[in-house]
Amino acid sequence: MKTLIKDIKELIGIHEEGKLLVKGKEMAQLNTIKDAWLLIEGEKIIDFGSMIDFSEDKLGETDEYNEIDASGKIVMPSFCDSHTHIVYAGSREIEYSDKIKGLSYEEIAKRGGGILNSVKLLHNTSEDELYYQSLERIHEIIGQGTGAVEIKSGYGLTTEDEIKMLRVIKRLRETTPIIIKSTFLGAHAVPAEYKEKQDEYVDLVINEMLPLVAAEDLADYIDVFCDKGFFTVEQTDRILMAGLKYGMRPKIHANELAKSGGIQVGVKYNALSVDHIEYTEDEEIETLLNSETMPTVLPGAAFFLNMPFAPARKMIDSGLPVAFASDYNPGSSPTGNMKLMMSFACVNYRLLPEEAIHATTLNTAYAMGVSDITGSITKGKLANLIITTDIQSYQFLPYAYGSDLVNSVILKGQLL
Ligand code: NIG
Ligand code: FE
Repeated sequence: MKTLIKDIKELIGIHEEGKLLVKGKEMAQLNTIKDAWLLIEGEKIIDFGSMIDFSEDKLGETDEYNEIDASGKIVMPSFCDSHTHIVYAGSREIEYSDKIKGLSYEEIAKRGGGILNSVKLLHNTSEDELYYQSLERIHEIIGQGTGAVEIKSGYGLTTEDEIKMLRVIKRLRETTPIIIKSTFLGAHAVPAEYKEKQDEYVDLVINEMLPLVAAEDLADYIDVFCDKGFFTVEQTDRILMAGLKYGMRPKIHANELAKSGGIQVGVKYNALSVDHIEYTEDEEIETLLNSETMPTVLPGAAFFLNMPFAPARKMIDSGLPVAFASDYNPGSSPTGNMKLMMSFACVNYRLLPEEAIHATTLNTAYAMGVSDITGSITKGKLANLIITTDIQSYQFLPYAYGSDLVNSVILKGQLL
């Protein structure tokens, strides 16, 4: 079955086949067609162009097709959210008040709150219940225009509970239309029982968890929270080396709380992305310039925790690509609203709307290893699209930061 979207006010985010990311000055060059059409066949975009050049011939041989009138509306690639923790149990709004009273993220963690709080909740939640709670969040983000999401484990911290989380991620992948990539984050925090024996916990991650995760083929990538008070560069090195043996490319949490050396160790192992990166200086930028690693900013976490902002503007001006993801999780960013991340990117990090669109679509697609199939308007890519409400221009998307401007979503060619 074919679907024709016609009279599109502006079709944005167009790229040629083979363009897997945009960096430096390119990030500000958004390719668009005003007054456009786009044709979908099955799951894919097969053609698009300007209405002036449109004729019925473009439809090829077809008796029946669906037609969507997009006059007044922008059509863009759906968002890719390359960093989330949306499989979790319950919520942590109690800590929200503690934070407002002045406790830092690290102080909350030290008192046994934070990640360990979610670990307890998850342990006491059945796999089925965890699936349903997470499914609700998947539906929520699809409604906000996200078409691909990476989800991490890391609230288990025992072999059994890590596997439980990863099985839920797998089940979500099998039962929802969104593209899902899965990341094993056994080294998210040190469980209470291992408080004075961090290295023993790292041994458990490497020798027990990882082989089982790999045997069940439950993870595409491997992650470590490499930061002050969590895991050291040496421990991260050991875990990434072990992951590599199973073909798991790293995507790591780095330099959120301090200049931890996380960026360098990530690049050393050819990480797909290094994420958070608030503490990034010239030497880290230099390291990233000589790599295939996507620097990924998580503006929701920086906003929610009142942290310094990563130097995203400087990175782009230095010629780097930059991605912006939500970090959707119960502790530091309880939202997966990627349109809001775009607004943060513009206001707090001084990205232009064009750069922010690339940073939340094609570059995040790269950061989760799916930019060959999604993240831009490209012939042959999946028809994962957002159709906006009637708006004046694409700049209006990040500008109207509190408005829901997603009129409808198409995932794998299906209008939802
Ligand atoms: O990305 N930084 C580490 N992990 C998460 C927070 C998880 C939590 O607090 O539950 C993050 O911000
Ligand atoms: Fe995170």
